[in-house]
Amino acid sequence: MKIFIGSDHGGFLLKQKIKDFFSAQGKHQIVDLGPKSSESVDYPVFGKKVGEAVVEIPGSLGIVLCGSGIGISIAANKVKGVRCALCNSKELAKLGREHNEANVLAMGERTQSVDDPLEIVETFISTEVDKEERHERRRAMLNEG
Ligand code: RB5
Repeated sequence: MKIFIGSDHGGFLLKQKIKDFFSAQGKHQIVDLGPKSSESVDYPVFGKKVGEAVVEIPGSLGIVLCGSGIGISIAANKVKGVRCALCNSKELAKLGREHNEANVLAMGERTQSVDDPLEIVETFISTEVDKEERHERRRAMLNEG
């Protein structure tokens, strides 16, 4: 699977950690859309970049990271076709995929997490979307705006 990842300075270290985790697994193709260093940058730039990349490549997923996860999730969600879910637990990551068909996962590096962020990522990537009619109907309503 192709996975686009991006952060601001507040999520930079977590971005590196997630990249290391994926490269050790060797299972997925990770595309790092920046930034390249932990110098201060603006999260809207990287949320948009990841969101646009995910929408452009069907079947891909995205991961966005900032201090809280909030700013960069808002930025990603402004891209049409993106459903970005801010998750600090495996339960939320699972539900975000199953019920909402989230295609971008957001997490905060500086906030408390219920579960290990790497386990949250793994859960998000490996959970299938629930195709039950009620979920399909509600997701279609989300698409209508
Ligand atoms: C950067 O200082 C911080 O505001 C940012 O990483 C994020 O938490 C915004 O939502």
